[in-house]
Amino acid sequence: MQSYTFSHAITRRPAASIIAGLRAVDTGTPDLALMQAHHADYIAALISTGAEVVELGALEAFPDSVFVEDTALCLPKGAVVMRPGAPSRLGEAAEMAPHLETLYGHVLRIEGADSFIEGGDILTTETEILVGRSARTNAAGVAELARLVADWGYTVREVFTPPGVLHFKTDCSLLDAETILSTKRLADSGCFDGYKVIHVADGEEACANSIRFNDLVIMPAGFAKTRRILEQAGYNVREIGNSECAKLDGGMSCLSLRFTPAR
Ligand code: GLY
Repeated sequence: MQSYTFSHAITRRPAASIIAGLRAVDTGTPDLALMQAHHADYIAALISTGAEVVELGALEAFPDSVFVEDTALCLPKGAVVMRPGAPSRLGEAAEMAPHLETLYGHVLRIEGADSFIEGGDILTTETEILVGRSARTNAAGVAELARLVADWGYTVREVFTPPGVLHFKTDCSLLDAETILSTKRLADSGCFDGYKVIHVADGEEACANSIRFNDLVIMPAGFAKTRRILEQAGYNVREIGNSECAKLDGGMSCLSLRFTPAR
């Protein structure tokens, strides 16, 4: 299943400048050492599934650069370099492009001056690519992505990130070809009609950003009710500490690009 089985992931080490990372609400300064420990656990979990993980060095000029997912969309047939809507993050995409060129041989780019789109707003399923418009992703960005990936046979469906939520995938994750983990507030929009939806437990909305990566569902630590729901549904769950990234509205999907490059 190409939407959740991957041969590769790319991560980037957190920079000391992470303390200046973007956040909706200031809940405290991230502890770099603890974030580094969580990051190492995350990479170990990815590797444990048999994937090759490319670990890029920290980029001090870009405080949020540990959240590599926002810089690109990686598909089996090619990669598209994004145009992040946060001005302080725009340069992160150019930093990622050469690494994707090495792995894919060639990449496409979102280039329109009015187009903005971040990977955190993109959920790729087995049959389509859902892109949530948000404060970071606009209609021009969605339309440009749709044009680029149409040649590879992918269909883009524009959806909407709930108001006040950073990214579409802040509130949902792919669990398998038919199943989405979602907050009720997002699923109630109807955007997952036709899929099987598993709701996160009430009060545990912060774990909706999990990832299916090969045989694992990797979720942030500390959400026991949702973990139980997932295990009862048959998923192999691994918890990773996320307290420091959570201070910057970051989660499990934000920390990697996951893909199988066709060359
Ligand atoms: N701190 C993650 C972001 O706002 O992009």
